[in-house]
Amino acid sequence: MRQFLNERLPLAEFSAHLRKPLPKHINLLFSLGSLAMFLLLLQAATGAFLALYYSPSPEHAHNAVTYISEEVPFGSFVRGLHHWGASAMVIIVFLHLLRVVIYSSYKAPRELTWIVGVLLLLVVLGFGFTGYLLPWDEKAYWATVVGVEIASTAPILGDFVAKVLRGGTEIGAVTLSRFYALHTIWLPWLAFGLVGVHLFFVRYYGSSGTPQNTPEEIKMGKPFYPDQVFEDVVGMLILFVALAAAALFMSVPLEDVADPTNASYDPRPEWYFLFLFQLLKYFQGPLEIVGTFVIPTVGMVLLLFLPFLDKSERAVLWKRPVALTVTTVCVVGIVGLTILGASSPKLETTDSTVVQEAPQPTEEVQEVSTPDTEEGEEVFDFQLTEEEIEGTQEDEEVFDFQLTEEELQ
Ligand code: HEM
Repeated sequence: MRQFLNERLPLAEFSAHLRKPLPKHINLLFSLGSLAMFLLLLQAATGAFLALYYSPSPEHAHNAVTYISEEVPFGSFVRGLHHWGASAMVIIVFLHLLRVVIYSSYKAPRELTWIVGVLLLLVVLGFGFTGYLLPWDEKAYWATVVGVEIASTAPILGDFVAKVLRGGTEIGAVTLSRFYALHTIWLPWLAFGLVGVHLFFVRYYGSSGTPQNTPEEIKMGKPFYPDQVFEDVVGMLILFVALAAAALFMSVPLEDVADPTNASYDPRPEWYFLFLFQLLKYFQGPLEIVGTFVIPTVGMVLLLFLPFLDKSERAVLWKRPVALTVTTVCVVGIVGLTILGASSPKLETTDSTVVQEAPQPTEEVQEVSTPDTEEGEEVFDFQLTEEEIEGTQEDEEVFDFQLTEEELQ
């Protein structure tokens, strides 16, 4: 069998490639990229399981998530892995970025690896933003209202982007299916495509190692396989155990079903967007755009072009005073704003932010079956207009009923 494959595939070359030595001074921080990749795969696997039960419509989404958490075997565990995995992904990718900055691994010839990395960071944040709406509970709904309003403040394209995200003028059924499509089709394709390119660059240029390596030492370290692979796999196992413990012992929040008329709700995004959210509080009125658009965009552009802006010699971060100061200010700023955002009360909104009109009443009677509640008992949702109840036409309002099968008979 081995001979058969050897004759047909370049296995010897592949094996030699895998066994190529890494730079001499490599430490545990060099496993962070592999951990990010592991988390991406874990998110894909757990997400695929959740998609078996989830339904992206305002009538079903919340019920489906409740059903996954309470009825589906291992549903709560898998949902927990997906939920805590998302947070872990943001932390690990951020730490991986910091490691690249600390050892100035973004410098020539690795500028393209860095640029693809920044795009991956945006994709990871995109996963977080689109996934947050899917449970269709109060926090999901109102955080998305704020998020889309923020997008709409961008000059020229803002309104267009907001309209495309919402699929109309309000957040509703079309928004939910758009976010679901982005979360489960567009972003995963983009993520795996970009990771493929990222890894190709990483292998093509070889690992940069730490700046203390002499040119000879770059090819004198342990081999990628089996040594580095073994360390990476141990890291993945430890990470998985930590996530499994979180999934088992920490419940994943699910608030009441989204109520678009509840404008008094205190909107809060996922923790990794809190620093941006907090930033908005310092720029109100005509200055709002500074917090919603100018600072985030300038920050992202500077990050993207960092390898071309930083022309200093390659050295570890603490030997580069300017880079050290900028990195420290950014990290302390982001962490500080996140803490402030987490502990502060409701966002003070200006006229243009947040408030969305209540949805139009539905005229048709809808019947939708939902996942089972108790054994054998099905719940039916009816929406009846006031007209159908009282025979009037003016000021139609929608009434929601939930009747069990038993009550129907
Ligand atoms: C889903 C997100 C990401 C994945 C799966 C990923 C994966 C990897 C892997 C496996 C490596 C090689 C091992 C290592 O050096 O840790 C690597 C290296 C690298 N990554 Fe990422 N990465 C991601 C995000 C990022 C981000 C956000 C940046 C920076 C903005 C970045 C920049 C780099 C650079 C410059 C290298 C080369 C480092 C060197 O040669 O020493 N990556 N990445």
